[in-house]
Amino acid sequence: MGLLNAQSTKTYVCEKMHSWIFHQHSSMVTVALGITFIAISNDLLPSRMGVQAWTYNYTTDPLDWDSARLYCKKHFTDMVAIQNKDEIAYLNKTLPKPDKGYYWIGIRKRQEKWTWVGTNKVLTPEAENWAMGEPNDLGDGQDCVEIYIKRHKDTAKWNDENCKNKKGTICYTASCSKKSCQNGTCVETIGDFKCRCYLGFEGPRCERAVECPAVSDVPSGGSMNCSHPIPPHRCNSTCEFRCDEGFLLQGAQRTECDATGQWTHPAPNCTVVTCDPLLVPSEVHFTCENPLGPSSYNSTCNFSCKAGHTLKGPANLTCLASGAWSAAAPVCEVVRCGQLNDPLNGKLRCQDPLEKFSYNSTCWSECNSGFILKGSSSTHCSTRGRWSHALPVCQAVECPAVSDAPSGGRMNCSHPISPNSFNSTCEFRCDEGFLLQGAQSTECDATGQWTHPAPNCTGTDTEW
Ligand SMILES: *[C@@H]1O[C@H](CO)[C@@H](O)[C@H](O)[C@H]1NC(C)=O
Ligand SMILES: *[C@@H]1O[C@H](CO)[C@@H](O)[C@H](O)[C@H]1NC(C)=O
Ligand SMILES: *[C@@H]1O[C@H](CO)[C@@H](O)[C@H](O)[C@H]1NC(C)=O
Ligand SMILES: *[C@@H]1O[C@H](CO)[C@@H](O)[C@H](O)[C@H]1NC(C)=O
Ligand SMILES: *[C@@H]1O[C@H](CO)[C@@H](O)[C@H](O)[C@H]1NC(C)=O
Ligand SMILES: *[C@@H]1O[C@H](CO)[C@@H](O)[C@H](O)[C@H]1NC(C)=O
Ligand SMILES: *[C@@H]1O[C@H](CO)[C@@H](O)[C@H](O)[C@H]1NC(C)=O
Ligand SMILES: *[C@@H]1O[C@H](CO)[C@@H](O)[C@H](O)[C@H]1NC(C)=O
Ligand SMILES: *[C@@H]1O[C@H](CO)[C@@H](O)[C@H](O)[C@H]1NC(C)=O
Ligand SMILES: *[C@@H]1O[C@H](CO)[C@@H](O)[C@H](O)[C@H]1NC(C)=O
Ligand SMILES: *[C@@H]1O[C@H](CO)[C@@H](O)[C@H](O)[C@H]1NC(C)=O
Ligand SMILES: *[C@@H]1O[C@H](CO)[C@@H](O)[C@H](O)[C@H]1NC(C)=O
Repeated sequence: MGLLNAQSTKTYVCEKMHSWIFHQHSSMVTVALGITFIAISNDLLPSRMGVQAWTYNYTTDPLDWDSARLYCKKHFTDMVAIQNKDEIAYLNKTLPKPDKGYYWIGIRKRQEKWTWVGTNKVLTPEAENWAMGEPNDLGDGQDCVEIYIKRHKDTAKWNDENCKNKKGTICYTASCSKKSCQNGTCVETIGDFKCRCYLGFEGPRCERAVECPAVSDVPSGGSMNCSHPIPPHRCNSTCEFRCDEGFLLQGAQRTECDATGQWTHPAPNCTVVTCDPLLVPSEVHFTCENPLGPSSYNSTCNFSCKAGHTLKGPANLTCLASGAWSAAAPVCEVVRCGQLNDPLNGKLRCQDPLEKFSYNSTCWSECNSGFILKGSSSTHCSTRGRWSHALPVCQAVECPAVSDAPSGGRMNCSHPISPNSFNSTCEFRCDEGFLLQGAQSTECDATGQWTHPAPNCTGTDTEW
């Protein structure tokens, strides 16, 4: 049966120290009461760490198995558990042959299974190291195990024995102590221990949490809030990012320093919120201030219109944090002047370069024939929506007043518009015995002249 063994190291959490491994360099110490110890001190283990070195002790005093175990547990860690060739070679080489029998080791039969007493683990076939023909369970209750040392045959092999028999004992003291590794498990190595760090810790004694690089790029337009279980920026540190109003977070909101010293996510960016480009009618003039970028949060635009136009809508817009403009864009409307009608007895003629009766419209008045214009013949619609001049009036042309009725006659006049003015008519009649000389009627014409002079009434007696 060959020496089968596997691991040269065995891992345990520091709190449970069950395992040991020895190492070549040793020294012998003889202690009083006839108990001899071998102390295997580890010169690899830096003493400045102040950690107790792994030691391996034995006694040749004959003890039954139970007493032997009590002895080991009282003075050391436990009875030895044999794990590999190196251990066996070492024991084979260094231990003396006791006066009586050989040495107990920490294996016992429990519920019909060979079990390592320190760990309560069942002996695996690979780890078995029985002497030829063993275990033979010879006689009564061979439930304990001894290791042959300095025997002529089968030396370093195991043999099952009655537990009541008295033998020497091999004990061990683990290198690992509770304080060996601060945040890791202690691993027994040959004459030494190593710390196997928990995730996120490093250093010879797992004394440091893994460190992440500082988060230097706090996003512009944002802020960062980090919490450090172990400051600064150590494993499990988390940083939360927030963007200021008007900025959008791009990337991860939260990052964590992981066990490998990397942040789980890169720092995010805060990008400024943008609004859609302003769509305004071409006649609207605008000027914008863009403190954070074109059409971006806090961009403000002022609007204005050309002369003769008024702004319908807001005078300015701001791009809000929501990405919307504060209101709909305005439009420019042409200024309007009041509607004009034809003057009485006249006509109005207008030129409207933009819209009817609007800014820059010009209107001219003309009077019908027989009427003359009083006032301004033209008017202009101003930028402020006012006509430059009031509409004129058309006054009827006046004729010189007709003299009294001719002597010896009568006159009957009508004045449809005003006295002695355009379209006024007068009819003449002569009295009995008088003869009308001239026109019977006259009319005030468009030029302000009577069509005919007033007639005469001449007496008929002249014939006499
Ligand atoms: C076991 O060996 C160690 C290391 O030399 C020694 O310090 C210790 O005293 C020994 N144990 C006992 C109980 O003597
Ligand atoms: C034990 O030691 C003897 C010599 O003392 C040697 O011949 C033998 O090979 C060793 N056995 C083991 C397993 O180391
Ligand atoms: C990180 O957090 C986990 C879970 O809370 C914990 O088990 C671990 O010990 C922590 N690591 C460090 C370095 O603080
Ligand atoms: C190791 O971890 C424990 C808790 O898991 C913690 O209280 C202690 O501060 C840690 N030690 C170091 C050095 O980080
Ligand atoms: C950071 O986060 C912690 C926990 O969420 C909170 O109590 C603290 O007020 C925050 N600090 C800042 C500056 O936001
Ligand atoms: C932030 O912006 C930089 C530069 O434009 C870019 O390289 C990086 O990938 C961005 N980060 C994220 C999380 O989008
Ligand atoms: C908009 O007008 C205000 C005053 O009304 C002025 O302070 C501001 O500078 C103007 N902005 C632009 C972009 O012209
Ligand atoms: C945006 O404008 C508001 C109001 O004027 C101001 O308080 C804020 O600081 C501005 N924000 C940025 C990022 O410029
Ligand atoms: C924007 O217009 C409003 C009226 O619509 C005015 O009260 C305010 O002062 C203007 N702001 C700027 C910056 O011109
Ligand atoms: C209005 O009339 C003035 C003078 O004729 C001219 O200079 C201006 O361009 C006109 N405006 C418009 C909007 O037509
Ligand atoms: C003047 O008289 C003529 C004919 O009698 C008539 O047709 C016309 O309408 C009158 N004009 C006015 C302004 O009364
Ligand atoms: C009326 O008599 C006057 C004076 O005798 C004369 O001058 C005038 O021409 C006469 N009119 C007509 C229409 O005959």
